[in-house]
Amino acid sequence: MAVEIEVVDDPGRACAAMLVGVAAGGGHMVLTGGSTPRAAYGEFVEAVQTVGVDVTRSTIWFTDERCVPPDDELSNYKLVHDTLLEPLGASAAPVVHRMRGELGPSEAADEYERELRAAGPPRFDLVLLGIGPDGHLASMFPDQSSLSERSRLVLGVPESGLEPFVPRVTLTFPALVNARQIVFLATGSSKAQPVAAAFGPKARPDPHLPSSLLPPMAKEVKVLLDRDAAAGLGPDVRPNGSGPAGSGRAGSGAA
Ligand code: 6PG
Repeated sequence: MAVEIEVVDDPGRACAAMLVGVAAGGGHMVLTGGSTPRAAYGEFVEAVQTVGVDVTRSTIWFTDERCVPPDDELSNYKLVHDTLLEPLGASAAPVVHRMRGELGPSEAADEYERELRAAGPPRFDLVLLGIGPDGHLASMFPDQSSLSERSRLVLGVPESGLEPFVPRVTLTFPALVNARQIVFLATGSSKAQPVAAAFGPKARPDPHLPSSLLPPMAKEVKVLLDRDAAAGLGPDVRPNGSGPAGSGRAGSGAA
């Protein structure tokens, strides 16, 4: 297990570059919701259209979904639709497997579990995750039973641990940990504390901080941050090329 922390001026752009690489190769990428990835999805479209990359052989899955219709403002699918799929246009877009949150947590999770298993054992090329202020990832919230799930790939989450308080559907650790690349994207000062606690030198696996549980199970985790989100990591972690540490990278001791 290794945690690679990278602090850059524009994490959205850096994240988009990684997604374009996977999509151009016809890979499987798992996209996440929340507000942070919005910029990355926009940059993805710009890069794909500017360079003329064919991403139609790639596939999009979702880390989690809110149990609302796909055109609801809270829907993670709507975020991806509005920022990525629609701007690309149907004929240029990747294949999409959305979680049908409108079915309710249990039925939607069962359906996605079947869909995922039908595609083979999960070995995604890139899983993109955000981190909540409470340290949650996907829709796995502090101290919830989803954190100890080791059989199912997808679970219904009847109660969200944080706003918006709607039931959720979430991938579980068994679905995430074998991905070739796992990338946490976090920006802004509200993420400084959970980022430091989950990925900093003093990080320890703690069910009260779900994101801290992933690195010990995964081969490698990249944490892509802006300066504000990296503020709790201490002086050794500097933006790329601008500080004594030079590279802007730091390996965390989380183990
Ligand atoms: C969701 C998410 C969730 C998100 C974090 C960070 O549906 O809410 O997928 O795990 O990534 O809450 O969200 P922000 O980017 O809005 O801070």
